[in-house]
Amino acid sequence: MSGSLAFDEYGRPFIIIRDQERKSRLTGIEAHKSHIMAAKAVAGVLRTSLGPKGLDKLLVSPDGDITVTNDGATILKQMDVQHQIAKLMVQLSQSQDDEIGDGTTGVVVLAGALLEQAEKLLDRGIHPIRVADGYEMAATVACEHLEKISEGFKVTPKDREDYRKLREYELQKFETMVKQVKDTGANLVICQWGFDDEANHLLLQRKLPAVRWVGGPEIELIAIATGGRIVPRFEELTKEKLGTAGTVRELSFGTTKEKMLVIEDCNNSRAVTIFIRGGNKMIVEEGKRSIHDALCVIRNLVKDSRIVYGGGAPEISCSLAVAEAAKKISTLEQYAMKSFSEALESVPLALAENSGFAPIHTLADIKSRQIKEKNPRLGIDCLNKGTNDMKTQSVIETLSSKRAQILLAVQLTKMILKIDDVRGSADQV
Ligand SMILES: Nc1ncnc2c1ncn2[C@@H]1O[C@H](COP(=O)(O)OP(=O)(O)OP(=O)(O)O)[C@@H](O)[C@H]1O
Ligand SMILES: [Mg+2]
Repeated sequence: MSGSLAFDEYGRPFIIIRDQERKSRLTGIEAHKSHIMAAKAVAGVLRTSLGPKGLDKLLVSPDGDITVTNDGATILKQMDVQHQIAKLMVQLSQSQDDEIGDGTTGVVVLAGALLEQAEKLLDRGIHPIRVADGYEMAATVACEHLEKISEGFKVTPKDREDYRKLREYELQKFETMVKQVKDTGANLVICQWGFDDEANHLLLQRKLPAVRWVGGPEIELIAIATGGRIVPRFEELTKEKLGTAGTVRELSFGTTKEKMLVIEDCNNSRAVTIFIRGGNKMIVEEGKRSIHDALCVIRNLVKDSRIVYGGGAPEISCSLAVAEAAKKISTLEQYAMKSFSEALESVPLALAENSGFAPIHTLADIKSRQIKEKNPRLGIDCLNKGTNDMKTQSVIETLSSKRAQILLAVQLTKMILKIDDVRGSADQV
């Protein structure tokens, strides 16, 4: 054990232990370094999964279940992460998943790069708070630039108008339906078809629990068991046609947390919306995740139709813009902004690396071409299509996703930089 001898104010000797592994508490710059290391480790795992040529991960759960996936949020969720800061990275990916649904790998790669760059700045003696402030400024520049290079995507105004009208109509319809059901005195609805989350929310508000997508045979069984009648139209609902059951409860069991609804003796099955077939369970699961990501992108486009082009092109363009803005800053934050600009390059670098290109060469080439050709759509030609113009390749990403990635990654980086002490609940003060 290495350590050094010191004396307290009464002259009594004590030993300061330098042995890092045994220390549960880290403070100051040591804490920052250790946090950055943990965050970098998590980002390092996801780096190779980024992009169309990204590799999959095979994850084995404690009871032997296997997941093969490329989805950042899923990889992190299934990894048994212990380190507190690494857990924050897992949550970061989850936030992107909740907010946007896609871009969960990219956001972690970006956050990892931001922290890696921050480490260098700390080594040069720049205070963590100044780094955080510089990053904040850079993020503002990057987001403004993103909007500048974004383009409208053809979700026609008519589509939007229709969408809005449809929603209003839907809402009105739901209100009447819920009222009709309540008027009969029913306190549970079982429906053979689906109703969307909005209706579900309304039902919940009106305190009318409802079960959707109950299969044909099951709904018949429930009808038989409860003595209820299946009615095809809301207008036909009357008090006499209601069934009764003692209790209805939801059970969740097993390690897979599968849920089941129990209505006295008969139970019903789960909701299915898209039918996916595959050679084995793992492929189907990954298919589901891909469809979920794709559906999220569509939803985001309906909400905000602005897009940027992918393949790392927006990151390169923003990196150039931030580097340019940094030159005009006279304070210390200039360095943090430069680092931010470098961190943005982590995405195109990873894409190039994962596609088997020499990363630095490819990036340098595209960077210079973006400037020379004044074209922010130039990115990594991952699929070897012969052009770097992502517009020609039709590789698009939503503006909202890119912006969320930058904002969330910076938010987390700033948070980690502001932590200089970690204590477990068992640690003594
Ligand atoms: N055909 C393509 N050519 C070049 N780049 C592409 C292509 N397809 C996707 N990309 C880029 O790959 C990146 C997205 O990779 P990926 O979908 O693996 O990760 P993610 O979206 O960050 O996370 P996840 O999909 O796991 O939630 C984006 O930068 C996107 O622009
Ligand atoms: Mg994706």
